[in-house]
Amino acid sequence: MCGIVAYIGTRQAKPILIKGLQRLEYRGYDSAGIALINKGHLSVYKTVGKVSKLEEILDVSNTEGTIGIGHTRWATHGEPNDVNAHPHYSQSRNMVIVHNGIIENYASLKKQLMSEGHVFESDTDTEVLAHLIDSIRESENVSLDEAVRLALAEVHGAYAIVVMAKDEPRMLVAARKGSPLVVGLGDQEFFFASDASPIIEYTKSVVYLNDGEIAIIANNELSIKTIENVVKSAKVQELELQLEMIEKGGYDTFMMKEIFEQPRSIFDSMRGRIDPKNGTIFMGGMSEYQYKLMNAKRILIIACGTSWHAGLVAEYLFEDLARIPVEVDYASEFRYRNPIVHHDDIVIAISQSGETADTLAAIELAKQKGATVLGVCNVVGSSIPRATHAGAYTHAGPEIGVASTKAFTAQVTVLIQMALWVGHRKGAISEGELRKILIEMETIPAKVEAALKLNEQIQSLAEEFKDAQDFLFLGRGVNFPVALEGALKLKEISYIHAEGYPAAEMKHGPIALIDDKMPVVVIATQNNQYDKVVSNIQEVRARKGRVIAIVNPGDTEVSKLAEFVIEVPETHDALSPLINSVPLQLLSYHIATLRGCNVDQPRNLAKSVTVE
Ligand code: G6P
Repeated sequence: MCGIVAYIGTRQAKPILIKGLQRLEYRGYDSAGIALINKGHLSVYKTVGKVSKLEEILDVSNTEGTIGIGHTRWATHGEPNDVNAHPHYSQSRNMVIVHNGIIENYASLKKQLMSEGHVFESDTDTEVLAHLIDSIRESENVSLDEAVRLALAEVHGAYAIVVMAKDEPRMLVAARKGSPLVVGLGDQEFFFASDASPIIEYTKSVVYLNDGEIAIIANNELSIKTIENVVKSAKVQELELQLEMIEKGGYDTFMMKEIFEQPRSIFDSMRGRIDPKNGTIFMGGMSEYQYKLMNAKRILIIACGTSWHAGLVAEYLFEDLARIPVEVDYASEFRYRNPIVHHDDIVIAISQSGETADTLAAIELAKQKGATVLGVCNVVGSSIPRATHAGAYTHAGPEIGVASTKAFTAQVTVLIQMALWVGHRKGAISEGELRKILIEMETIPAKVEAALKLNEQIQSLAEEFKDAQDFLFLGRGVNFPVALEGALKLKEISYIHAEGYPAAEMKHGPIALIDDKMPVVVIATQNNQYDKVVSNIQEVRARKGRVIAIVNPGDTEVSKLAEFVIEVPETHDALSPLINSVPLQLLSYHIATLRGCNVDQPRNLAKSVTVE
């Protein structure tokens, strides 16, 4: 949700900013811009469209300068156009700002500033903040960082900002509240970015800013203070991110690379945690809370998007394996419905990015109400792991494709382990059952690898269905959320309307949609509901629906009924989402690609949603 990058040092800033914006483009890509200071001139270059379009403009401009700020936008206030693109000037045009987030009281601030004679060019909340900072700077006659601090004290909302002024060519001021910002510390140079990806080839030393902190680079030094003017010391951390983790590595798209990385990301999410030989699980990050989990009367799961689907899978797992009642909520609904939360409830927040605004707000609410909050996150050092009491990382590695794939299966991997861990400690599952599942878990990476071999078969299937207008995805039990996720993936990247449904619920509505053009993807792998799914397929066939079935080897019944059959390796039912998700990801991918869609950056979406 908007990407920010900034540089101050001895190198030319432009190439660093552009490369950084390209890496951050997953956060938003409707417009992009940079500002540079060179020999007393402050210049802004910005355009609607992607960073590649910005590069075209820059090619014909004089873009020297060793200090600069950049932005790639996902529009909130004001349509995506050149004027609304960041950076934004202040009234005097002596100062510029880039911003990620929303200034909620921008309308009243704007009115006040307009009454003082300010004229605004754009429809954005960001421009209001630029004017506010600069007008405080002039009227109070204070330094740039102090003006930023005083302005932020008047602002409600979420932000990460970086500010630079023409008369302070060796100074950058940044701040965060609710939106991520990391500072990179190099040799005589400093970086700001929304995540560490623009920084890694220059330095591994970073400082993750906390909410309410202002970072100032001046005289070649970093200093940090809060909005309340309390001086803070910088906690320098070493980045573990490697450059190859954020490159396409020979694949056409990040999404394809990430789908194919799943054997590894699932393995990494189990590594050091399961020990099938001894039949044990170790969840180090949350061992302090094991008794609370074991004694929890209820688990509340909060998440958004694909992570919410992982939460739904976890509902089945925790209830079945650990015998703890579970409620799964969209974080955005949870936070506004005055939820009932008890002291002995455990809240599990699931998030790939660790920055989703609704999930963060729901966590704060749950904490206020006295619950213990555990996080399941992918991005190390992001806000959610810091806001939760404890948790487990998913170790999927950076996920850059906007549509989530490997992060989902990694989340499910971690949640399975959590459910088994608690279930075993509570005595809800026997030693024997635990060992059986753990032994099977170890085989999952190889089985996912085998499922990936279906790629070509699924590509031909995609040819057959690429022009469909609607799609239905059906599954039961733990594979119902997989059906939801399959439908979400298809609509996100191919723009085909798709719905996921519990297979048995189809007859209560969606069956009305079925005719001889309707593709119906049915997850019909082996479990105790197999016969029921066969009956559901019969219902679709009776209405001439076109059934694409996901089955296990040796299947007889479904194969007779379905028009197309995709055969994936068999596994324990609790683990089956890890394998069954793969053909659905590939199907969406190929349909979207055949329709000419940009799978990594689908229209209107952003990977990290840091606004409500
Ligand atoms: C956005 C992304 C989705 C993601 C959701 C939740 O909508 O496009 O892919 O599932 O946010 O994100 P999180 O980072 O909290 O898992």
